[in-house]
Amino acid sequence: MSINQPSNCSLANASEQVTNRKQDHIDAVLNDPLVERDQQGFEQIKLMHRALPECDFNAIDTSTDFLNYKIQFPFLISSMTGGAANNLGNINRHLAEAAEICRVPMAVGSQRAMMIDDAAKQSFELRKYAPTAPLIANLGAVQLNYGFGVDEAQRAIDVLQADALYLHLNPLQEVVQPEGDTNFARLANKIHKLTEKIDVPIILKEVGSGLSPQDIEIGLAAGIHHFDIAGRGGTSWSRIEAHRADNDLGVLFQDWGLTTVESLKLSEPYQQKAQFIASGGIRNGIDMVKAVIMGGRLCGVAAPLLAPAQESTEEVVATIEQFQQEFQTAQFLLGVPKADALHLNTALISPF
Ligand SMILES: Cc1cc2nc3c(=O)[nH]c(=O)nc-3n(C[C@H](O)[C@H](O)[C@H](O)COP(=O)(O)O)c2cc1C
Repeated sequence: MSINQPSNCSLANASEQVTNRKQDHIDAVLNDPLVERDQQGFEQIKLMHRALPECDFNAIDTSTDFLNYKIQFPFLISSMTGGAANNLGNINRHLAEAAEICRVPMAVGSQRAMMIDDAAKQSFELRKYAPTAPLIANLGAVQLNYGFGVDEAQRAIDVLQADALYLHLNPLQEVVQPEGDTNFARLANKIHKLTEKIDVPIILKEVGSGLSPQDIEIGLAAGIHHFDIAGRGGTSWSRIEAHRADNDLGVLFQDWGLTTVESLKLSEPYQQKAQFIASGGIRNGIDMVKAVIMGGRLCGVAAPLLAPAQESTEEVVATIEQFQQEFQTAQFLLGVPKADALHLNTALISPF
C-alpha cells in the first residue's frame, strides 16, 4: 500500500525544493501517527526499584556536563529544521529560547538550505536566543560527496556560533527520497579530512536506523570521538519519505535498522574511546534514565518537541520540564542522588 500523496512536483529551483521538503517532513510527522514506530526496545529493560532510596527527592542532582557546559539534565533538543520559510525560523527560535531557559543543548536541522539560499541563514542565527546553551550545527555527511567540504562545514558552525557539528548519516532516507543523494562511497576519508580542519568536535549521527559497531569503528579511525546512535523505534524517516515517493520502498523499510536499545548495547565496547548520545524514540524521563544507564551521555529528543515548537517557547519549555520531572523521579526511585552515577551503572537494571 502506497502512502504517496500527490506532490507539487515542478519545483522552481533547488532552494524552493529544500524548503518544500522540510515542510513535507514536518507535515508527515504531524499528520501520520504511524511515523512514530514506538519500538525502540526500552520496554524490555526493567529497572531495580528502591523502596528505601536513602536520598531526598528535592536534593536529587540531575545535572551533567556536555562540551564544557553545565547542563540541567542529560537532554538534547535534537536536529529538526531550519530554512527560508518563516515558520521554520520560528520553530528554531522557540527551540533555542527554550534551550536557554532550560539549560539544555540544542541541535539544528540540516544547514544545507542556507548553502543554496541566503534567506535560510537567519533561521540558523540562534546564538542571540541561546547565549549560554551548547549549540550543534548540522550537515549531511553525504554532501561531502556532492561538493561540500571544509568551507561549508565552517560556515554552518560560524552562522550558529556552534560548539560542535553533527554530520548526519541517512543512507536509508536518501534512497527512499525521490531526489535523494545516494553516493555514500569513500565518505570516511572525507570525514577524516574534515576532523583535521575543523576545531569543534564532529559528532556522527544517524537519523533513526542506529549505528552499528562497524560504523563506530570506521568513525573512530576517522578521528571521531562523539556519536549519536539515533536508533530505530521512534521517528521513521523511511516512512516520512514514503509520503513523498511514488513507490512502496519507504513503507517496506519503515522498521529497518538497529533499535535504540540494540545500538546502545552494541556501543558498550567503545564507551571508553568515545562519548555516545542516545536518541530515537526517547519519549519520557524513564526512557532517558534507561538510555543513560546503557551508555548515553545525553538523550536526544526530536519529534515530541515539534508540535510545541510550532506553538511557542513556553510550550517547548513545558515539554522539557516534564521530561526533567520524570527523569528526576526515576533517578530518585533508583536511589541515585547524582545523574552522572547513572552512566553505565548496569547494576540498576533488574534481572527480571
Ligand atoms: C521534523 C524532523 C526533522 C528532522 N530533520 C533532521 C535533520 O535535518 N538532520 C538530522 O540530522 N536529523 C533530523 N531529524 C532526525 C532527528 O534529529 C532524530 O535523529 C530522529 O528523529 C530520532 O529522534 P525522535 O524519535 O525523537 O524523533 C529530524 C527529525 C524530525 C522529527
